[in-house]
Amino acid sequence: MAAVIEELDPRKCTESVEEISRLEKKTFPKHESLARSLEQEVMRKNSGLIYAKVTSEGRGGEIVGYVMYCWISSLCASITKLAVKESYRRQGLGEALMKAAIQKCRTRNVLRVCLHVDPERIPAVSLYENLGFQIEVLVASYYSVDRNAYRMYLDFDG
Ligand SMILES: CC(C)(COP(=O)(O)OP(=O)(O)OC[C@H]1O[C@@H](n2cnc3c(N)ncnc32)[C@H](O)[C@@H]1OP(=O)(O)O)[C@@H](O)C(=O)NCCC(=O)NCCS
Repeated sequence: MAAVIEELDPRKCTESVEEISRLEKKTFPKHESLARSLEQEVMRKNSGLIYAKVTSEGRGGEIVGYVMYCWISSLCASITKLAVKESYRRQGLGEALMKAAIQKCRTRNVLRVCLHVDPERIPAVSLYENLGFQIEVLVASYYSVDRNAYRMYLDFDG
């Protein structure tokens, strides 16, 4: 599999935004999905999106994963979305996307990257822990009445 990891330029890539919206819709339940507001989200000045695209001979590329992030303050960035298409999972793309987003956050000189994740999303929690994220707190009813979230963080060493 040949995959490239690229930063989205939302002004030039409306088709890519639509493709990512479809993947978002497939991956997340309605109450957790940004599919309907993705275009506005990626246009925000304090946010960014990095995607993974696979290309195969004779066919155009396909977006099979993405990570979104934003700067909450001058000290803290947040990973707001991560998804890899089901048939492309367990091939290192989730990790590659996260590393690219963390690197991007580093360039902004923030001290901390944080995120929220449903504790039942075992693959995601495991990936974040592998990358050095620590659980700060369990936030009750974060996604919906019966769905909690871990708030996790990764601190940079200055
Ligand atoms: C979480 C997700 C992005 C991982 O993507 P991926 O491309 O499969 O991940 P990778 O292949 O890069 O795996 C990296 C690490 O993630 C963890 N991981 C991935 N899939 C896993 C699984 N099924 N079970 C346990 N750990 C898993 C492992 O720690 C793995 O490292 P290892 O291969 O050395 O064991 C993907 O499963 C996904 O899109 N899930 C649905 C959406 C989601 O939960 N997003 C997070 C919302 S906060």
